[in-house]
Amino acid sequence: MILIDGKKAAAELREELKQEVTELKTKYNKVPGLTVILIGDMAPSQIYVRNKEKSANEVGLKSEVIRYPDTVEEKTVLEKIEELNNDESVSGILVQLPLPKHIDKQKVIETITPSKDVDGFHPMNVGNLSSGYESSVPCTPLGCYLMIKKIEPNLSGKKAVVVGRSNLNGKPMAQLLLKENCTVTITHSRTKDLKAECLEADIIVAAVGIPELVKGDWIKKDAIVIDVGINKTENGLVGDVAFDEVSKVAKALTPVPGGVGPMTIACLLKNTVDCFKRSQK
Ligand code: GUN
Repeated sequence: MILIDGKKAAAELREELKQEVTELKTKYNKVPGLTVILIGDMAPSQIYVRNKEKSANEVGLKSEVIRYPDTVEEKTVLEKIEELNNDESVSGILVQLPLPKHIDKQKVIETITPSKDVDGFHPMNVGNLSSGYESSVPCTPLGCYLMIKKIEPNLSGKKAVVVGRSNLNGKPMAQLLLKENCTVTITHSRTKDLKAECLEADIIVAAVGIPELVKGDWIKKDAIVIDVGINKTENGLVGDVAFDEVSKVAKALTPVPGGVGPMTIACLLKNTVDCFKRSQK
């Protein structure tokens, strides 16, 4: 079984980006800039944002974090986004989710200009992805996609089952696999026989947030299994895939932690560099 090393894949991608940023700096005499807006003091968000900042600096991006207390008015945030939209030194804008209840997530997402939407959450980018046009692609599914392609460069005709239908993961993941000519099934909590669906799959991406849902006897021999889940349990951090069982059947599997997570952040940097490049065209 191939244990997919997300840390290593992310380090390789960061190294490529670092090279590219150096070249862009020579060519344009400026570097791509990423601005993250962080509202409130939720611990997981703080940790994510710190990691994003650290990685951005490591590849030579200009990186900025704007922090607000969780009492900040929605208007203040929207005005800041408008300001960043018009700031030429900012290539990418990310508003860390989740947001406090009094702030309208949809409004925030739609205020970010699509060309700086490094999360790929703006409806314009969602539409472009589903139409097969150039777009920002959400970082987590993009990371999953790159890891799958490394194992299996030709995905044409493969059966892929995506478990979970979120805007963040499931839906964009399905679009990426469809673009690669996979036959894609999107499953979710109301799917009648999830095990039967999974047993058909050459590729499974599990992104439902249910600890160890996907079992060893759900897996076709030699399937590629990507585990997006990060669930805190009494037994520590586990994914959406029962790792020990599945590792006995699958051809390749991502661990939790150390699989998808590191690639998500590296893909955010990639999206920032890509937004910069498109802005210079
Ligand atoms: N919170 C958890 N994951 C994400 C993400 O991918 N993007 C944003 N903006 N917030 C998040």
